[in-house]
Amino acid sequence: MNDVEMSPPSQLSIELEKDSQEPIYRQLIRLIREQIDSGDLENGARLPASRDLALQLGISRISVVNAYAELRSEGYLSTHTGRGTFVSTPTQFSSRPYAQNGAEPTQDLHAFRDLMRLAYKPNVINFSHGTPPGDFYPVQQLHGVINRVIERDGASALGYEPPEGYAPLRASVRDYVNSWGIRCLPSQVLVTGGTQQGLNLAVRAILAPGDTLVTSNPTYLGMRDIAFSCGVRLHGVEMDDDGISLVALEEYASTHDVKLVYVMPSFHNPTGLVMPLHRRRQLLQLAEDYDFTILEDGVYQEFQFEGESVPPLKALDENDRVIFVSGFTKSMVPGLRIGYMISTHKHYENIARIKAAADISSPGLNQRAMHLMLKHGIAAQQLDLNLQKLRRRRDMALRAAETHLPEGSTWSKPIGGLYLWVELPHHGPTAAELYVTAIQNGVAFAIGNVFYTNDGGTYQVRLNYALQDEASIPEGIARLGRAWQLAYHADPQAAHSLIL
Ligand SMILES: Cc1ncc(COP(=O)(O)O)c(C=O)c1O
Repeated sequence: MNDVEMSPPSQLSIELEKDSQEPIYRQLIRLIREQIDSGDLENGARLPASRDLALQLGISRISVVNAYAELRSEGYLSTHTGRGTFVSTPTQFSSRPYAQNGAEPTQDLHAFRDLMRLAYKPNVINFSHGTPPGDFYPVQQLHGVINRVIERDGASALGYEPPEGYAPLRASVRDYVNSWGIRCLPSQVLVTGGTQQGLNLAVRAILAPGDTLVTSNPTYLGMRDIAFSCGVRLHGVEMDDDGISLVALEEYASTHDVKLVYVMPSFHNPTGLVMPLHRRRQLLQLAEDYDFTILEDGVYQEFQFEGESVPPLKALDENDRVIFVSGFTKSMVPGLRIGYMISTHKHYENIARIKAAADISSPGLNQRAMHLMLKHGIAAQQLDLNLQKLRRRRDMALRAAETHLPEGSTWSKPIGGLYLWVELPHHGPTAAELYVTAIQNGVAFAIGNVFYTNDGGTYQVRLNYALQDEASIPEGIARLGRAWQLAYHADPQAAHSLIL
């Protein structure tokens, strides 16, 4: 045992303001940084283990893990495997300000999110974000159709469109969703600013502040943001291999006034699961029995590369129970921000009014360009190419996971969508703890906790395998496997008693 290991950790005198708007972990970063800058904490001083400091201060461990990670990335701290975390003179990185853009639902979510920003560091193989990669976008074709729209329509392409959307695009969307069995009129199509806006509008139209939106647990992170911004509570219902558990949903619906249930039946984010036909029919029946509306998110609907396809809930909806929301974002170009909502429901007029109040209309140039991409088959061709790539990347990711992830990890084989959802062995580091080591080893993923409305997801990670090319996937997952081993051996005691 050397001198460093024998010296006890420094006693930190930290006074947190638990009622402050400033998140706990940011206070922690600021206070530790001040003590290092002022010389109260000297170069080489050992800091308490994250678990001990969390216990001392009565805060969650993730706040401490996150603060240490950030101070490390700023060069204030360094970690020596098996020995601990030490003060080091900040010369390597300049400190960077945090975005102060409003409150988040919980401080832990804020902390996890900021932790995940480390994925943007150079040389990190990033499996973290929920987007398709740039090589999936039809850049040249888009260039061509934008020029064609401007030549054809001139100034009319640059003015306001009707709030419901550019009429020819609404007709094309009708044809597009028709191929999945959804029957509707163009007048029942509302063009939206991406799927996100469609979800937001539906929640605003149907729920009032204080109401509860029911969803699966885990669920799409962006819906947590919407609920928070609308003052709506979220109730997460557990999932099984077929999607949201209808036993648990019925139990809840029988004792609560449920108005709206948000689901992603095809290639659920983050789990990648597909709800089978029989479960879809039962869910529709439950909506009848308990008189609620289903908000169906179909943004990954066309990302199926093998197996039998299952129709969207909206295609099975005989009693006008379902609002279907999707977009040409994941399947085509996220940045055009063109999404759509199909609602033959009584809510359509109300939703269209809220849409007009939100942004008057979605951009006309983008709507017209998207219309030409659909009309001339560019969208279909590009999707075909993307699905071939996606499948190859999925295969690569599965092979690499078999080889490199620690024994005891589990996942199911996705047949579409972007995500591999991995459960790590529970005797090792949590996903958040692994994340810190993973970044140091040049790989990033999405931490499971951010997708849960409760404290679930501690050992789960989401890998967006689409984001990396075939050469980088094995390397990225190999780094993840190495990071797990390092994190596991760095803190063998914690390996048996990890808490957040
Ligand atoms: C399930 C789900 N719904 C909606 C969205 C938002 O997509 P868009 O870019 O169409 O707004 C995302 C993006 O990650 C998503 O994963």
